Amino acid sequence: MTNPSAPAVPPCSADRIRDDVETLATFTEPSHPGWTRRAYSKEYTSAREWLASRMADCGLRVRRDAANNLIGTCAGRAGGRALATGSHTDTVEGGGRFDGIAGVLTALEAVRTLHESGITLHHELRVVDFFNEEANAYGLSCVGSRALAGALSQRDLALTDATGESLAQGLARAGGDPASVADCAWTDDELAAFVELHIEQGPVLEQQGYPLAVVTAIAGIDRHLLEFTGQPDHAGATPMDMRRDALCAAAEAVLAVEELAGADGSVGTSGRLEVEPGAANVVPGTARVWAEFRAADRERLDAAASGLGTAAREAAAKRGVEVQVHPLSSVSPVAADPGVQDVLASAADRHGMATRRLFSGAGHDSAHMALLCPIGMLFVPSHGGRSHCPEEWTDPEDLAAGARALAQALVDLDRSADRA
Ligand code: HGY
Ligand code: MN
Ligand code: MN
Repeated sequence: MTNPSAPAVPPCSADRIRDDVETLATFTEPSHPGWTRRAYSKEYTSAREWLASRMADCGLRVRRDAANNLIGTCAGRAGGRALATGSHTDTVEGGGRFDGIAGVLTALEAVRTLHESGITLHHELRVVDFFNEEANAYGLSCVGSRALAGALSQRDLALTDATGESLAQGLARAGGDPASVADCAWTDDELAAFVELHIEQGPVLEQQGYPLAVVTAIAGIDRHLLEFTGQPDHAGATPMDMRRDALCAAAEAVLAVEELAGADGSVGTSGRLEVEPGAANVVPGTARVWAEFRAADRERLDAAASGLGTAAREAAAKRGVEVQVHPLSSVSPVAADPGVQDVLASAADRHGMATRRLFSGAGHDSAHMALLCPIGMLFVPSHGGRSHCPEEWTDPEDLAAGARALAQALVDLDRSADRA
């Protein structure tokens, strides 16, 4: 579906992208291994001040909305629906330098390359650094993109972390305006399409020798909090048959997550555990498990949630332990728009870059932007398939190739949107 009338985008600069990656990587919390830039930290706030200046350097008009999204806009020559691209720059704790960051910095390189080559878009282009994509202490991810899609609810804003601070308070502390979050939602007639470049975070592209993948769909993600309440007791003097050990019940639930996932490509993880009082010589009185399931279809996620509830209640009952199962968040699987997929594939093909279609097991802001418009994603290779860890790496040359395909896709979408 190459758009022959659309101008060909010249190569993008790996050196400029490398410089931006290295500069952004300097904004990290020193107390953690790897790179840590949590969305409510001062390091993240400083990083975005730098990023806002880089957006302005590209000629973008920069603003921050009530949900603390950073949005750079390039005016179009015609009216009509805008095009948008972007990703996130917050990281997990002990993470890497490319998850989300690749999509924001290649978008800036795409804008620079279009500008230098005199290729102008007829439609407005919005480059977004979405606030807080990663799962946070309040139990929610994709805060900024949910808000843009009009899907950040009052219930979400009332979620609290272990200290009792609400997401609304955290958002205000980070520079947002929770009372005005509803006003920052884009309407579903503002955008013609949204495309996001992201690292694969898996091994397929590198193992199969592809420079790019076109994403077919994004996994649905359900997250649950299981709270087990037993009885703290002396670890030495309490007979085994008199214990109400909350952690043993939780441990059975963690194994149930593993058991319930994996049958058909779906996955399950219990990535966070809290035990109280947390002393070696006290029978655990309380145990909390944060569990998540990911799958390509909603029915699979619902079956896993039901199975987990049953397993948790059985594990608790046989120990005289109470259990509460709290659904934390639920994002259904999202299909990438077939037309946008084809535009991405042909844009890459035009510049000799082979692509394969690939399902995304990772969640992305695109999943929420799909509430507003057709979406598409490009993946660039992750070295060794590693991500969410200091070893995360993507070659700048791969990022430059991705930026060129992204820029070409934006031009092709721009010209085809003219005909819309
Ligand atoms: O967890 C995810 O899938 C994403 O990296 N936040
Ligand atoms: Mn990401
Ligand atoms: Mn991530």
